[in-house]
Amino acid sequence: MRIDILTVVPELLTSPLGESILKRAQEKGLVEIVIHNIRDYTFDRHRQVDDYPFGGEAGMVMKPEPIFRCVEDLQSQRHYDEIIYTSPDGITYDQHEANRLSTLENIIILCGHYKGIDHRVREHLITREISIGDYVLTGGELAAAIIADSVIRVIPGAIGDEASALTDSFQDNLLAPPVYTRPADFRGWKVPDVLLSGNPKEIARWQEEQALERTARLRPDLLADD
Ligand code: ADE
Repeated sequence: MRIDILTVVPELLTSPLGESILKRAQEKGLVEIVIHNIRDYTFDRHRQVDDYPFGGEAGMVMKPEPIFRCVEDLQSQRHYDEIIYTSPDGITYDQHEANRLSTLENIIILCGHYKGIDHRVREHLITREISIGDYVLTGGELAAAIIADSVIRVIPGAIGDEASALTDSFQDNLLAPPVYTRPADFRGWKVPDVLLSGNPKEIARWQEEQALERTARLRPDLLADD
């Protein structure tokens, strides 16, 4: 899979996407992440990526030309399955969308900034708008990092334990059961006996019950979901 991210602040993305599991996934060849500075697609002396909005409201708007230039340059090299714009107006991001995106070959994520982008970009270039929640960020970079992270971690082989991406919270619309490590007794707080029993069937049943109980108590909306 290849993920191209378009931004005016590449520094916000290099570190979150260049460490740990995401770094290893790239080294293993499971994903290629390419970050593009939209400013590199300007032709004017000031490398201007934004301008005042028509209508005279406050704030700056991202100009269409450098964005179209960058996307069309990428599209001349390969087909893109989805061109995503990160915005609070978009569909609310969830695990189902992360799973779906992880099956695609090539995607572009355009990070919004300033007051927004010229609406013609949204009308004629963007195929999907995604919000990571009902709050407003200063820019779309952190949202893009979250999307890329959650997509990459469900690509088979990205995390060490093949089974674990499929058993996390939200896969199957269930929260994950509690986990414990050594010591078995910490300050008198004991690990549930069943986990020390060595009986895989009993352990699996306990984990399932816990997942259901925690979901019903903490996120009943997930059980109502399809
Ligand atoms: N940009 C600003 N706020 C955002 C949000 N909630 N989700 C995605 N992109 C955003």
